Amino acid sequence: MTNSNVLKVKIILGSTRPTRFSEHAGGWILEQAKKITDIEPEILDLRDYAMPFFNEAVSPSYKQEPYKNEAVARFTSKIAEGDAFIIVTPEYNRGTSGVLKNAFDWVYQEWNNKPVGFVAYGSVGGARAVEQLRLTAVELQMAPVRNAVHINAPWLLRDEAGNLKPEALDSYQGAAEGLLTQLVWWANALKTARGTQG
Ligand SMILES: Cc1cc2nc3c(=O)[nH]c(=O)nc-3n(C[C@H](O)[C@H](O)[C@H](O)COP(=O)(O)O)c2cc1C
Repeated sequence: MTNSNVLKVKIILGSTRPTRFSEHAGGWILEQAKKITDIEPEILDLRDYAMPFFNEAVSPSYKQEPYKNEAVARFTSKIAEGDAFIIVTPEYNRGTSGVLKNAFDWVYQEWNNKPVGFVAYGSVGGARAVEQLRLTAVELQMAPVRNAVHINAPWLLRDEAGNLKPEALDSYQGAAEGLLTQLVWWANALKTARGTQG
């Protein structure tokens, strides 16, 4: 039986590279989220949603089903399910990744009126990617929360086999708690507001 009070939190991995750090950061924030009651976190791996570069005649804000591309349809239905989102983003050339921006561009209504938080990494903790993404989120009528996790120099946190070193992200647990607390507050508030709007 589904509990309508449970918040569905989708954690989106923003890199698909073979040696990506995003799955380590994503796995870690998933474990932090699991500690919170009444939320149901799920990872959405963009490797599982091979969406083409957005190239439609009209914006998704006007789009009509049925979707022409099955990966876009599957991804959109997952976003529709979500009450809140955590975006795990790398910083590429002082911005977010192309694959993540493309995923944002494919969807519109399903993002609207929902909160989003960020787990980022890079030489300055992915801060510049997050600043870009906050603007994108506002345009998609989302509510970006203030607190974020900024992981510095992720390349120092892995062993020679590429695995996360033990306790590598422990010092970020407080930041994760701050992010999750705000995300849950906004998710509850906006879920109620969406419900009252029918
Ligand atoms: C194309 C490219 C551009 C990058 N640009 C930046 C950058 O502007 N700032 C930064 O801090 N790190 C930069 N990096 C390093 C990334 O932070 C690092 O490789 C990180 O692990 C990438 O995330 P991923 O492994 O999940 O793909 C860049 C990496 C790549 C591959």
